[in-house]
Amino acid sequence: MDVRVLHADITTLQVDAIVNAANNSLLGGGGVDGAIHRAAGPELLAECRTLHGCPTGEAKITRGYALPARHVIHTVGPVWHGGQRNEDTLLAGCYRNSLQLAFDHELESIAFPSISTGVYRFPIERASRIALREVTAFLEAHPQMQVLFACFSEQDRAVYQAALTVSFQD
Ligand code: APR
Repeated sequence: MDVRVLHADITTLQVDAIVNAANNSLLGGGGVDGAIHRAAGPELLAECRTLHGCPTGEAKITRGYALPARHVIHTVGPVWHGGQRNEDTLLAGCYRNSLQLAFDHELESIAFPSISTGVYRFPIERASRIALREVTAFLEAHPQMQVLFACFSEQDRAVYQAALTVSFQD
């Protein structure tokens, strides 16, 4: 099972698809969304405009334009409201639907940021366990795929690495 956790800027990764932690409008924002749009160039926003938004927990795909990645898979994570508003299920959907979309487009390598754990304030340890559970379950059924977690800090990398280690013990 090919899952790796990196301390990396996701916009630099030469993979089939990088995943964007977007908002429901898909019209750009700050954080990793802003970084991806800056690196991809204005054509990304132009294509996003044709998608007419994206519901929370779902995913849509575009080309990568000036990015080294061939595609961007835009997914919208839940805003954390304390855990009683279906946040866990919605976050799991972000990973599952992004992986399914990559598989449907015959993409083999996909990189995720730490979805929802920035502006959307989802607790990162809880998010990492959900992420690794969904990714390892999907890879059991699709072993040819390669998944990278591109964590933007060493601290975040350590959290996802710990979740990866636990997921292999389960
Ligand atoms: N590469 C990888 N990870 C990054 C990068 C980058 N270049 N830039 C930021 N990150 C990390 C953050 O450090 C955080 O760990 O991405 C993670 C997700 O944080 P946000 O980008 O704030 O995303 P999220 O919490 O899902 O909030 C989404 O923020 O930018 C807006 O338009 C976006 O409204 C949406 C909201």
